[in-house]
Amino acid sequence: MSNGAKVSVPQTLNQSAGDEREQTLRPQDFLDFVGQNKTVERLKIMTGAAAKRGEALSHILFCGPPGLGKTTLALILGQEMNSNVRITSGPVIEKAADLAGLLTGLERADILFIDEIHRLPRVVEEYLYSAMEDFRIDIMIDQGPSARSVSLSIPPFTLVGATTRTGLLSAPLRSRFTLQSRLDYYSAKDLCQIVERSALLLNLQITDDCALEIANRSRGTPRIANNLLRFVRDFTQQKLLTIADQAVARDALEMLEIDRDGLDDMDKKILTVIGQNYNGGPVGLGTVAIAVGEEIQTVEDVHEPYLIQEGYLQRTQQGRVLTSKGWQKIGLAAAGKQQTFL
Ligand SMILES: Nc1ncnc2c1ncn2[C@@H]1O[C@H](COP(=O)(O)OP(=O)(O)OP(=O)(O)O)[C@@H](O)[C@H]1O
Ligand SMILES: [Mg+2]
Repeated sequence: MSNGAKVSVPQTLNQSAGDEREQTLRPQDFLDFVGQNKTVERLKIMTGAAAKRGEALSHILFCGPPGLGKTTLALILGQEMNSNVRITSGPVIEKAADLAGLLTGLERADILFIDEIHRLPRVVEEYLYSAMEDFRIDIMIDQGPSARSVSLSIPPFTLVGATTRTGLLSAPLRSRFTLQSRLDYYSAKDLCQIVERSALLLNLQITDDCALEIANRSRGTPRIANNLLRFVRDFTQQKLLTIADQAVARDALEMLEIDRDGLDDMDKKILTVIGQNYNGGPVGLGTVAIAVGEEIQTVEDVHEPYLIQEGYLQRTQQGRVLTSKGWQKIGLAAAGKQQTFL
């Protein structure tokens, strides 16, 4: 962070080179954070009030598909509150002792950011309840006759949780967050603004319609917009051009096989499998995932929400069903469907 908040990342968290690259484009404060107005307004109220009272911020849960800004917002909260942000992730905290270690190492008003909080083991989750509510954690020491419970007090802290799946979070855990905010896919207008800001940081000159072309193909997701922009930058450089216009963006993105509506190869594969192999559905997501050779969780978290939001796919009690827009996308129109009814 530029100033204020200090971020510590446990070794156990997989920090890929991609994350490092993300850091440069990550907005550092609310001013640079585009869109998600409702969430940002709520956070500004909470940080403003907590700072005035000199207290730790209340616990906050962010949910929504990958790449929409959950981690970014957690870091901005640290900056706003001038607090340390400790980053960890649900599956990394295996035992109650891991959690106790993390919590007792916190300083007053620190932010503990637990990514993928839905993957926290249930036994660990239960210890979190008293920590969040009473800033206390009771852990068992020893086993058998000498077993005893020790109560450790924790400085008031803020838990910021992030999840791609609110449905997997238990009700008692969910209810302990003062604010639960869902991040939505970004509009093309917001994505344009993000692309323009990133282009500036990457020293790439782009035209307005280049930004729009990238925005339209980013499936509502800033991370994807930034990745596409980086490719457009490489493309521009290798073609010895000085400015990226709409035609350049189009050529570059065609090369990545990302279509005009932002659907990638896997999105189209999912639609094609449902259409061709299962006559448009209904078909279970597990079956689709096996057929396309992708993890079920990835299909459910990454691909399906966007396909549903954009009206290519419908989720029904019986399974996933292709809509007429979905049929059109795979070039079969309603023909495949009609055959079943003949
Ligand atoms: N509102 C925004 N304005 C500008 N850039 C953004 C915004 N939201 C996200 N970004 C960019 O997108 C990248 C991805 O965001 P972030 O890492 O916060 O997503 P996430 O929701 O935590 O994803 P995941 O679920 O995969 O952890 C950031 O590095 C940042 O550059
Ligand atoms: Mg994240």
